[in-house]
Amino acid sequence: MNKKFYITTPIYYVNARPHIGHAYTTIACDAIARRQRMLGADTFFLTGTDEHGQKIERAAQAAGKTPQQFADEVSAQFRALWERMGITNDDFIRTTEERHKKRVQELFRRIRDTGHIYKGTYTGQYCVFDELYVDAVGSGAPCPECGRPTETVREENYFFKLSAFQDRLLQLYTDQPDFIRPETRRNEVMSFVGGGLRDLSISRSTFSWGIPVPDDPKHVIYVWLDALANYITAIGYGSSHKAAQEAFQKYWPADLQMIGKEIVRFHCVYWPAFLMAAELPLPKTIMAHGWLLFEESKMSKSRGNIVRTETILDVLGADALRYFLLREVVFGQDGSFSFDALVQRYNADLANGVGNLASRTLTMITRYFRGEVPYPSAAVSQKAGDSAIAENARKVIAECGILFDQYQFSRALEVAWSLVAAVDKYIVENEPWALGEKQDEESRSRLATILYTSAEALRIVTALAHPVIPDATSRIWSQLGLDDIRKFPLSELKWGQLELGAKLGSVQPVFPRADKSAIERMQKMEEQQRSALTDAQPDAPAQTTAVPVASTPPVAATPTAKSAATVPDGKISIDDFAKIELRVGQVKAAEKVKGADKLLRLEVDLGTEIRQVVAGIAESYAPELLIGRKVVIVANLAPRKLRGLESNGMIVAASPEGGKAVLASFLEDVPVGTRLK
Ligand code: MSP
Repeated sequence: MNKKFYITTPIYYVNARPHIGHAYTTIACDAIARRQRMLGADTFFLTGTDEHGQKIERAAQAAGKTPQQFADEVSAQFRALWERMGITNDDFIRTTEERHKKRVQELFRRIRDTGHIYKGTYTGQYCVFDELYVDAVGSGAPCPECGRPTETVREENYFFKLSAFQDRLLQLYTDQPDFIRPETRRNEVMSFVGGGLRDLSISRSTFSWGIPVPDDPKHVIYVWLDALANYITAIGYGSSHKAAQEAFQKYWPADLQMIGKEIVRFHCVYWPAFLMAAELPLPKTIMAHGWLLFEESKMSKSRGNIVRTETILDVLGADALRYFLLREVVFGQDGSFSFDALVQRYNADLANGVGNLASRTLTMITRYFRGEVPYPSAAVSQKAGDSAIAENARKVIAECGILFDQYQFSRALEVAWSLVAAVDKYIVENEPWALGEKQDEESRSRLATILYTSAEALRIVTALAHPVIPDATSRIWSQLGLDDIRKFPLSELKWGQLELGAKLGSVQPVFPRADKSAIERMQKMEEQQRSALTDAQPDAPAQTTAVPVASTPPVAATPTAKSAATVPDGKISIDDFAKIELRVGQVKAAEKVKGADKLLRLEVDLGTEIRQVVAGIAESYAPELLIGRKVVIVANLAPRKLRGLESNGMIVAASPEGGKAVLASFLEDVPVGTRLK
């Protein structure tokens, strides 16, 4: 019987449209799933969307939609994108589906029945962005994970006895060293768990967008318990249907759960503890990859530095993105994305590399051998260079397989492409085009050997690269006159399988060269998209009143000629309001101004620049509590000096009569630099 292979991506939050950070994980899993299928494993590849919780509820509210409408829209965008990219997931789970909800309740019951849940009261800080209970102290204290201000939660909750699993977890990491990969992450988790575990609140009762706790529907199940459970609910856990139960028996435990490094704790501590409590088997490996950085920081919606996948698909196609991400970034480590590097890699390795090898080899076979795979000649015209290529290919097949199976994509591709380079060199040295001009038997026979050798090496690279660049390799495969590449048994790949005399398909270029304009086009598409999104931001909440706190006089409204005629006394026109440039900024640094009790000097990131702003909020806020906080800045205020320091802009706050200033802020996450209007 065939071995099975169950692989999962994290399920993506629906508060943000998909970007290439999400695509990165999905592409890596897709490449692994495709390879496993070619190796003959009965493969199940799962992805989906994470749709419950406070963060999604608030994002929906900000967009003026119900959470369900909102989730439906964004989840559909993820699904459509994966389809467009040819991702081969076998299922797509949404946590708002009935099947999931029922089965999560079943899991909750199970953990309760085994005695691992009790009722208590949680008082402490909560980070809505990470949906994480944190140990920080004090209202607004920054989340240790993301730096955003936390909220104080005081509510009756159900608790999970996480503390009871400390020893078993440590034992697990020791006994099963591959449970967490790479090693650095494993060490981090071991030291976190070794430091002691506290019980975990696993329900919330102050909002309702979630799955009700069985028998106590005032509570909804903690979104991470709900989300993590997708890995088992999607394949049938907790179902009463026989087929679903059989699927669960067949596929669970997962062979590989792929995640980004920021969600290691949830997957490597909470998840195995929940499974242990439910007496279920544990996944074999959880692999954490690094972040995709853009302009030096993690690509994310909140930083406003995302790159959309669609832009790259439109200009260079899915294979280009897949190849770039897996070749350029050392899997497990952070890696940078840039359009320049993408186009450079594309041209060097795809257009001039495998694309060129395919087109020159296949074109010559068409021209000199009527499109039929030529017979390599007898020993007479065999040279050392021919057997060196065959030898090289044998080595590449072996090494590439090992590296792939260790998820060292970058190295695996490097090795496969070393064969492309070797064959290129071989072709140049042997000048088949010169032989093609001659009609004597020896030249013909030599030409046949060279082109056969090149085509066979091309076939081998094509088979090895298929999981990474499925579209182009399928086309090269059929140009080589071969059947469905997906069905090719990769474990049997060896030199000499190319069928002699087989008729080639019609030869078409697979990777046309990209010129410089490709970079500009992609950059432009992204800029347009960014400004379209900024323009579509929801209105600022009505209750946010702009009160100057940096002892700067309020902006005087000078009515324009047009507005003066139409606006009643005491009011300003919308044009007047539009003159005030209010933007979302993020505090990067804050300190007291020497000799001024009320002033703080802040460095505020406006997305395009860092501004120094001096604000009279020292009596309301300790400087360290402001780091990471998003604030509203009047960005086009003329600079002025306060205590000798230049203040470039004004921070917006409410100043209640006789009370302390309260900074205007946002309940939902909003990209830095966004304009308020
Ligand atoms: N919903 C949770 C996961 C629940 S799984 C039970 C979540 N969602 S997320 O939308 O924030 O996506 C997280 C995953 O997307 C990361 O773990 C990572 O796999 C991928 N990435 C999102 N941004 C990324 C980068 N900038 N770089 C690399 N991967 C990124 O967390």
